[in-house]
Amino acid sequence: MPRLAGKVALITGAAGGQGVAEAELFVREGAAVMLTDVDAAKGEQLAARLREQGGKARFLVHDASSEQAWIDTVAATLAAFGGLHILVNNAGTIARQGIVNTTVEAWNRTLAVNLTGPLLGMKHCAPAIRDSGGGSIVNISSTAGLTAHDDAAYTASKWGLRGLTKTAVLQFSPWNIRVNSIHPGQIADTGFFQSGGDAFAQAARAAIPLHRQGTPKECADLVLFLASDESSFISGAEIAVDGGYIAAGLAGLRNRVRDEYAKSRET
Ligand SMILES: NC(=O)c1ccc[n+]([C@@H]2O[C@H](COP(=O)([O-])OP(=O)(O)OC[C@H]3O[C@@H](n4cnc5c(N)ncnc54)[C@H](O)[C@@H]3O)[C@@H](O)[C@H]2O)c1
Repeated sequence: MPRLAGKVALITGAAGGQGVAEAELFVREGAAVMLTDVDAAKGEQLAARLREQGGKARFLVHDASSEQAWIDTVAATLAAFGGLHILVNNAGTIARQGIVNTTVEAWNRTLAVNLTGPLLGMKHCAPAIRDSGGGSIVNISSTAGLTAHDDAAYTASKWGLRGLTKTAVLQFSPWNIRVNSIHPGQIADTGFFQSGGDAFAQAARAAIPLHRQGTPKECADLVLFLASDESSFISGAEIAVDGGYIAAGLAGLRNRVRDEYAKSRET
């Protein structure tokens, strides 16, 4: 039995690394998917490929920060597939600016996409999910929503999304909707990873106890679990997909410095 048989899912930012992996997995597990992104060419291509493989997939251009776009997208999803059970708030953006360098434009844009977007998504999707018998919302936060990150707006947005997820649990549980946040660490083969640059990637790899970056599929596997009925008693959880980065924390840093010090004493 496919794990999402009979379910309808809406995935934002579906043309990017993790969104594509989620779309592929969801379709393989029997879901009908509404894929949305601001990148029309990549999104259309993805939906066409999934349909050629026998999947139920459509694509809509949708800026996650626009309330009217959410209203239109939910209406189009209900018209196309007759219901809605799963929302994955996956779209995200990053300006890579510290506090002193942050422009108000970058701050506002990052919060609009990464925090207002999921708020609007839940505002407009939750009633439709309730009317379809309940379901699951997965908010893609970040390890930047669990600890510090260099980008001021990104960090604020991902901490905000983690908190907003808890409010959603309070308000949507009576509607039989579970809400969880996931917190990816460094995930290769994504636009985010490419924009971070080599030095950041090297340093991050050294700080990850598993000593490698994650893959979009490893995040999508967790999203699938949280979206499916297999996680039927899990709501309000915040799960890191980070190779142990957050768990190792200060002890990881201390041990690296200790080892470097010991090495320097040998030479
Ligand atoms: N890749 C990582 O290392 C990493 C780590 C932690 C968290 N994340 C989060 O994972 C999520 C997915 O990102 P990814 O890793 O696949 O990177 P990605 O850059 O490959 O994908 C992001 C997608 O979001 C889309 N997008 C950007 N602005 C949008 C908007 N206003 N409306 C709709 N879509 C928009 C982009 O077009 C792109 O397709 C993001 O929320 C990101 O913050 C990524």
